[in-house]
Amino acid sequence: MFVRRVAVVGAGYVGLTSAACLASLGHHVVCADIDEKKVEQLRKAEVQIFEPGLTELVGEGIAAGRLEFVVGVRNAVPDAEVVFLCVPTPMGEGGAADLRAVEAAVAEMKDLLAPETVVVNKSTVPVGTAKRVLELLDRDDVFVASNPEFLREGSAVKDFMHPDRIVVGSDAQNAAERVSALYARLGAPTVLMDAASAELVKYSANCFLAMKLSYVNAMAELCERLGADIANVTEGMGFDQRIGQSFLQPGPGWGGSCLPKDTHALLQIAEAAGHEFELLQATINTNEKQSRLIISKIAQAVGGLRGKKLGLLGLAFKAGTNDLRDSPALKIAKMLKAEGAELVAYDPAIPAEVEGVTDDVTVVDDVQHAAKDANALVVLTEWPQFRSLDWAALAGAMTGQVVVDTRNLLDGDILTRAGLTSHGVGR
Ligand code: UGA
Repeated sequence: MFVRRVAVVGAGYVGLTSAACLASLGHHVVCADIDEKKVEQLRKAEVQIFEPGLTELVGEGIAAGRLEFVVGVRNAVPDAEVVFLCVPTPMGEGGAADLRAVEAAVAEMKDLLAPETVVVNKSTVPVGTAKRVLELLDRDDVFVASNPEFLREGSAVKDFMHPDRIVVGSDAQNAAERVSALYARLGAPTVLMDAASAELVKYSANCFLAMKLSYVNAMAELCERLGADIANVTEGMGFDQRIGQSFLQPGPGWGGSCLPKDTHALLQIAEAAGHEFELLQATINTNEKQSRLIISKIAQAVGGLRGKKLGLLGLAFKAGTNDLRDSPALKIAKMLKAEGAELVAYDPAIPAEVEGVTDDVTVVDDVQHAAKDANALVVLTEWPQFRSLDWAALAGAMTGQVVVDTRNLLDGDILTRAGLTSHGVGR
């Protein structure tokens, strides 16, 4: 079997998932992070990220002696044949990606890399970063490649092990092949290309997904005006294989740590290249509008927001994660609060004792508590377990009998039987 010594720099979502999965493919992986406490926990297979299957995989990798955690880049790279950069690239000034973590990691590794090492950007980085990394490395005996990841939070391990495709780009001969060979056992379609194109694939894919959702949300608004049902419209559209059934669910707007960051970053990249990307700007604007539409929907349902008590169901940016970064639920909570509503929230993945979630809401540990004396319950995250809540009991605890379901998650008949009036999106 083809086994390589791999270093992964950064033990966040992407880094840790990649490290654990590469180890399970048989490679020897050393994963570095600057956070000593995190490294200490990972050595004991204690994973703080809510990601199905990840803890088990980390444990197996450690037990098999194929997965190691170290503090600092310098302790991970000297023996590696391939080094993956998986450090954060948050939204910086004006929406552009902030590359300081990438630059710091490269500066630290530059004199330690063995000849022929391939340094791989896995973080989402602007076009041209591969070139920049090569300049920063300032060596002619090492190579740079770009290998964007397409992992979704909540199914990262599954997405890694069963990818739709592997994309690797490099301007150096054989470097892309050497990186793609690491994934050979997965048997996935593999596309090799130049570095700039590979860097653009990730942005292009995420922005396309965001555009798809903005389109659906805009269409949902039109459905409401025309008395149509968005579920029927998207189902009818989705059977066209060129469109596809997935990623067509309307909601409170798209969020999370990737789509908002990447849409803004690509807009910046386009602007810097002298290209006015109106479609992308409209995609972002439509998403902003979506939260305002949801606010008016709630206000209308309860007869004005001032002084109203609302129980929020869900805070995470989507189901299956406890991630609150750029969560549409938090954005909507902030807007509701600014309009004078009083908010109590329940999310199965966010314990009440977690501090600093937001000042806008009181987080509680049981749904009944969120419903107590509420004028309305508002579903903001599509947790499947919300479908089978005891809606009659919740209705009994509420003062109003209204549910605003921004995810079109719940069964309207069940709500009606419980004496509740429900308002969805696009129907
Ligand atoms: C997204 C992409 O889907 C991944 O392919 C990509 O690898 C990842 O970003 C990344 O760049 O790392 P993720 O942020 O985990 O993954 O979340 P998604 O599942 O894409 O959801 C994004 C947002 O869209 C969420 O707020 C979700 O609730 C919303 N959404 C998704 C909808 O409103 N409707 C849908 O039908 C699907």
